[in-house]
Amino acid sequence: MAAIRVSGGARLAGSVRVTGAKNSVLKLMAAALLARGCTVLHEVPDIHDVEIMAELLRRLGCSVERDLAARTLAITVPEHLEHRADYDLVRRMRASICVLGPLVTRVGAADVALPGGDAIGSRGLDMHIDGLTRMGATVASEHGYLVAQAPRLHGAHVDLDFPSVGATENILMAAVLADGTTTIENAAREPEIVDLAEMLRAMGAQVDGAGTPTITVVGVEGLQPVEHTTVPDRIVAGTWAIAAAMTQGDVTVHNARPEHLELALDRLSLAGAAIDATADGLRVRMDRRPRAIDIVTLPYPGIATDFQPQFIALNAVADGAAMVTENLFEARFRFVQELARLGADVRTDGHHALVRGRARLSGAPVEATDIRAGAGLVLAGLCADGVTTVHGAEHIDRGYAGFVEDLQALGADAERLA
Ligand code: UD1
Repeated sequence: MAAIRVSGGARLAGSVRVTGAKNSVLKLMAAALLARGCTVLHEVPDIHDVEIMAELLRRLGCSVERDLAARTLAITVPEHLEHRADYDLVRRMRASICVLGPLVTRVGAADVALPGGDAIGSRGLDMHIDGLTRMGATVASEHGYLVAQAPRLHGAHVDLDFPSVGATENILMAAVLADGTTTIENAAREPEIVDLAEMLRAMGAQVDGAGTPTITVVGVEGLQPVEHTTVPDRIVAGTWAIAAAMTQGDVTVHNARPEHLELALDRLSLAGAAIDATADGLRVRMDRRPRAIDIVTLPYPGIATDFQPQFIALNAVADGAAMVTENLFEARFRFVQELARLGADVRTDGHHALVRGRARLSGAPVEATDIRAGAGLVLAGLCADGVTTVHGAEHIDRGYAGFVEDLQALGADAERLA
């Protein structure tokens, strides 16, 4: 197990550059399956989940080459693909489920291991299954696998109960090669969905309405491979913005899109931060202890659940008390027990966490339970007296490329422990 050690007290100052979004690139890699030939992705982050997805694509018969220095990934997709995603890969990364839609529509079959529980709560697949079933697939759960079959999918009207990111993506990717028109109502509107739709359109798909609650797809006969640049990671950019505010620092984030962070940045300015758009990103400055700010997580354009731990960490050192409401993943407050080891005053009740700020936290060993909890704990460690060691740093590696190097570049006393 890896760990990140931070000594608190430094004010983060300087600049960092964000690469492509984890939550986009994994789906773009799955979308490459839709076209025979070589798809090239740019701004691919150097994170562990990309490796897992690359391994999954290789087992399906693709060749995947990565140029870390150039941040590119080339995926060569053969005419005939395998259609089984094994448990050993899916259990390491739930996002593996996004090969379901592309495989059913391109190969006519998919056996994808059920991801099982996740440290942030139960994450159902009912909407993925319902959407594909409406499009003519038979989907059954057999021996721990979702077994889907459809010689040819047809267009359908799919009304999602909830704007699920994963279900929207799977149904969208399945629809591009189906017969006829598919409409997805109550679709997720995340920038990563728009990114996926842009790549699909460049491949020759007919997709309208991505970024709105209604996506319309007219199926086409075939798609061509393309080159595509991954949308910048708004969660990583926002994490640096929150870190700047918490440490009363001055951080410029390059390759960020402030328009993807509107509500989160609005909350940070309420906390007292000065936020400016720059030519290719944003700058966050803070000259005082942050004011406590209420946060409610919601599907985009609401504040992302992936910011919840970082905002709890901010409130833990803020002036005043705030309520943080989590509406997406019920177990995401689990990390609060770890934050309490640093002296944070947080009480949870169901979906709500009441956070009473303390002027200073106190460094301690803690354990990261998922990617964002890990980031939240490191941020809290930056505002704690003495040394905080965040164990389970491999979770952080799944979502943040070069996190420790970036922290060091911004002036933090941080190091990675083997
Ligand atoms: C994606 C992101 C994750 C982010 C989340 C919400 C990736 C790889 N991960 O996850 O970082 O936190 O969006 O913004 O992109 N649900 C069901 N049935 C379904 C599908 C979802 O009940 O068929 C529920 C889930 O249990 C959860 C909620 O819907 O409570 C949101 O899930 P969803 O939007 O699908 O998130 P993911 O795609 O898994």
